[in-house]
Amino acid sequence: MSLIDQLNQLEYEALAALEQIADLTALAEWKSAYLGKQGALSRLSRGLGALPAEERPVAGARFNAARATLEQALERAEAQLKRIARQHAFEADQVDVTLPGRAPAVGRLHPTTQMLRTIYGILGEMGFQVWESPEVETDEFNFQLLNMPPDHPARDMWDTFYVETAPGEPTLLLRTHTSPGQIYAMRANAPNPVRAILPGKCYRYEQVTARHEMQFYQVEGIAIGEQISFSDLKGTLVAFAERLYGKGVKTRFRPSYFPFTEPSVEFDIECFLCSGAGCRVCKHSGWLEILGAGMIHPTVLRNGGYDPDAVSGFAFGMGPERMAMLRYGIDDIRWFFSGDERFLQQF
Ligand code: PHE
Repeated sequence: MSLIDQLNQLEYEALAALEQIADLTALAEWKSAYLGKQGALSRLSRGLGALPAEERPVAGARFNAARATLEQALERAEAQLKRIARQHAFEADQVDVTLPGRAPAVGRLHPTTQMLRTIYGILGEMGFQVWESPEVETDEFNFQLLNMPPDHPARDMWDTFYVETAPGEPTLLLRTHTSPGQIYAMRANAPNPVRAILPGKCYRYEQVTARHEMQFYQVEGIAIGEQISFSDLKGTLVAFAERLYGKGVKTRFRPSYFPFTEPSVEFDIECFLCSGAGCRVCKHSGWLEILGAGMIHPTVLRNGGYDPDAVSGFAFGMGPERMAMLRYGIDDIRWFFSGDERFLQQF
């Protein structure tokens, strides 16, 4: 076979092989097999030297033309393969815009916060302003100024967590109730009348149960002025309960004891779970206690800077978690601090 025939054959083969190529790796192999320095075309062109001198220019031109043809075919094939690869990548990446989106998780207020805000709303309309007071307290404010000197037996009702302090420093503790706030609010206002609420977190060292947590919120309230009586206290609390739970809600006052009020009461709402029949949550009494209250003890009024002969006042301390339990039908107070989203998402 003449050199030119071999070249024609090679060109034909190469173009046919190119047709079959489906990816860029195979294309690179094809390129070095036919067009590379050691490729078929270069090897065949070595035969040019053996041709008679007068045939060489024509044959040489034919080799050049064949190389050009193959190079152009290679370029076309490469462009084509790249286009296909890009197309595949697009298809693999394709976003189905008709799929429903993923809704972002929307946060919301904790049920205790919701209850606190409801309480501020109702008592705010009755003229109580919101005050703040510290969560870490001295023994003096948590107990002594509230008519509980050291070793007073009533301290047993409020066991707490103590902070280690240097000898001679005042004893620090996590407050067991918001009642120390009464003293701050009184001292800031005496001798003028005051109506204030003091919300915040409290702590107790005690057995955790369905009704008791070692941390919880309270909202303290005080009203001090001339001629404030026990019926003002009752009227305020019943009106408050009706605003919160609806007219006709069953409530009751029970005589109780607190060193800082005299007389003292506890205020109950009919149990939401059993409607008064008695169950685990209400300790089979049919009632749930939501607050302690009473007429402010003269000693406490004096500690706050008031003259107990000139003014009187009432105080109450309510438990918003207990109140949220009643409102939403929550049967265990431990849910509030569980951090369980399934619980939180319901409010
Ligand atoms: N501080 C009391 C408690 O935590 C509640 C209370 C507040 C009682 C104000 C009377 C007056 O139990």
